[in-house]
Amino acid sequence: MSVLSGKKIVLGISGGIAAYKTAFLVRSLVKAGAEVRVVMTDSAKDFVTPLTLSTLSKNPVLSSFYNDDEKEAEWNNHVELGLWADLMLVAPATANTLSKMATGNSDNFLVAVYLSAKCPVYFAPAMDLDMYRHPSTLDSFEKLKQFGNIMIPAESGELASGLVGQGRMAEPEHIVSFIEADIERKLPLRGKKILVTAGPTYEAIDPVRFIGNHSSGKMGYDIAKAAASLGAQVILVSGPTHLTLEKAGIELIRVTSAKDMYDVCHEHFSNVDVAIAAAAVADYRPKFPADQKIKKDASEFVIELEKTKDILASLGEIKQHQFLIGFALETENEIENAEKKIRKKNLDLIVLNSLRDQGAGFGHQTNKVTFIDKNFNREDHDLKTKEAVALDIIQKVIVHYA
Ligand code: CTP
Repeated sequence: MSVLSGKKIVLGISGGIAAYKTAFLVRSLVKAGAEVRVVMTDSAKDFVTPLTLSTLSKNPVLSSFYNDDEKEAEWNNHVELGLWADLMLVAPATANTLSKMATGNSDNFLVAVYLSAKCPVYFAPAMDLDMYRHPSTLDSFEKLKQFGNIMIPAESGELASGLVGQGRMAEPEHIVSFIEADIERKLPLRGKKILVTAGPTYEAIDPVRFIGNHSSGKMGYDIAKAAASLGAQVILVSGPTHLTLEKAGIELIRVTSAKDMYDVCHEHFSNVDVAIAAAAVADYRPKFPADQKIKKDASEFVIELEKTKDILASLGEIKQHQFLIGFALETENEIENAEKKIRKKNLDLIVLNSLRDQGAGFGHQTNKVTFIDKNFNREDHDLKTKEAVALDIIQKVIVHYA
């Protein structure tokens, strides 16, 4: 899946012949999963029609501060659009538009959107070769780069003037892969390996029966997804769940019992930077699981249980550089119990859910957590979706490595 998936992109088009290629550019961005809103200058409309671009982007195309429809005259809010964007791309960026943006000359809607945008801005310049290397254009490039904007170099070849040289707008597919690579390179967890446990474990009574619990696995899966989308390489060790997952950057290893989960975690732990134990591991398992299905002959039936190994505590014992995060699900004396677990399991951070909080814990789409770090600093969070809690947890990892 592309890193552009789900991103909100403002595509600014200024008036150069390369504007005709923006139809392909919009299509590629939409295909990558982005939502695209096009803003064009008046002169760009001489090269490509707003109808083409609104059809491909499935959004209205804007080019002025208001639409002058007699019945429904409307103010187009450049500030809102600038803030809406996760990313802005100006392609083609003409010498004129680059210069206006570099100097803040906001005499059109596109420049006003640019000046309001707080997101990363990419430029794909397009102009004739002499314009491209003119000191005034180079000055604009420099200034925009100083603002933190990113230039996608123009390509070489035959130009509209008939001259041959650098100045052609990068091909749409090159623009998309340039931006994808740039985003991936800057992801905060790039190069980090993270082990996540998720779901319940099943402890066999006989070949057809087991002791398990109601964990859906959602919290652990959401943590894995959040970590991978921020650039981490994730090993997700999952007990039996109905969840499926196909996401680049996540290796899913399915296990059944606490023993299997323990073995897989220990196989990988020395190679990871972070381990997050979100699984609801069985604390006890039948001591003598039967080889054959147990018949219902006796009127009473007792299963002798033995303790499983605590995976998280065992990782805490051998941890070296790893940042170790555990969960605690408590029903009383929550803070005190969670703090004890930090010490006992040698954790860097614990994520505490109290079953006394509505909407927290098993079987919910939401969770309400308190973070407690190894120095017992506490951070209470509101009730949130598990996706949002996962991002908060991953944020702690990012801060740790910042
Ligand atoms: N955990 C684990 N292996 C186990 C049991 C628990 O890795 N055999 C991990 C869980 O994934 C969780 C944390 O330990 O991150 C806390 O589990 P919890 O059940 O709340 O606490 P326990 O340590 O089992 O203590 P108790 O049940 O007595 O509260």
